[in-house]
Amino acid sequence: MPVFVKQNDLKLYLKPHINNKSNVGFVPTMGALHQGHLSLMAESLKNNSLTVVSIFINPTQFNNPDDLKKYPRTLEADVAKIEALNPEIIIYAPTVEDIYEGKTESQQFEYDGLEFQMEGKHRPGHFDGVGTIVKKLFEIIQPTNAYFGEKDFQQLQIVKKLVSKYKIPVNIIGCPIHREPNGLAMSSRNERLEKKEREKASVIYSILKEAKKLFHTKSAGEVSKWVNNQFKKQELFQLEYFEIADEKTLLECKRKSKTKKYRGFIAVFVNNVRLIDNISLK
Ligand code: PAF
Repeated sequence: MPVFVKQNDLKLYLKPHINNKSNVGFVPTMGALHQGHLSLMAESLKNNSLTVVSIFINPTQFNNPDDLKKYPRTLEADVAKIEALNPEIIIYAPTVEDIYEGKTESQQFEYDGLEFQMEGKHRPGHFDGVGTIVKKLFEIIQPTNAYFGEKDFQQLQIVKKLVSKYKIPVNIIGCPIHREPNGLAMSSRNERLEKKEREKASVIYSILKEAKKLFHTKSAGEVSKWVNNQFKKQELFQLEYFEIADEKTLLECKRKSKTKKYRGFIAVFVNNVRLIDNISLK
């Protein structure tokens, strides 16, 4: 199974495929792979003649150094999971040096205001880091299609904006959230939860589902207040934000409009582990 560490070797390998106009599918990850990642790879395998997966914990997108330090690093297990799915998948697992060439800094991006909402407010610089790495990876791999999970819905919208603004010729494909049997959205960070915390974290999705029901008859403000009250009763969890926002602009819903699609977005701390999730309110 091809595992590349250096971008120049990967570029050389991909060149004939790109010249032949083969469809190249790309799944960017930070490793600690779970079923959600594997489903993105399966989607790519269905629709492309070649699939590339990157495994790179991108330092510039972490606003919290402790979060970067504690981010799970499981390269060997990740490679084994990919191999079990399909040994023809190409893995790119570069070093920080190979990507940043001695200058580990973000480029500054402007995403028409998407960057100032929700995650952008709470994680300063995060989306500059995401834009920097995603753009670099697109330049190296030149994929036809790239797959992103809807758990990071704001990131998905930002990546769509990035490729449209920079005229990067790649189709961005959003894929549904995968959940653990108890409803918790799959995330590499779930690995950092204690068993009890992981079980109890099912409450996040239960509250989102209830919020969706309430949104049929209540205003966004009333639903948000209800969600905030629910978390006051939860000892293990600290709500960072719950917001109902327009799927396209990510602007907070002040007054419901029939022509808009809304989602409920949430970020919650469980003992210093930050989890995010979202639900369509259609
Ligand atoms: O969603 C992630 O895992 C990361 O933000 C990404 C897209 C791989 C960029 O580092």
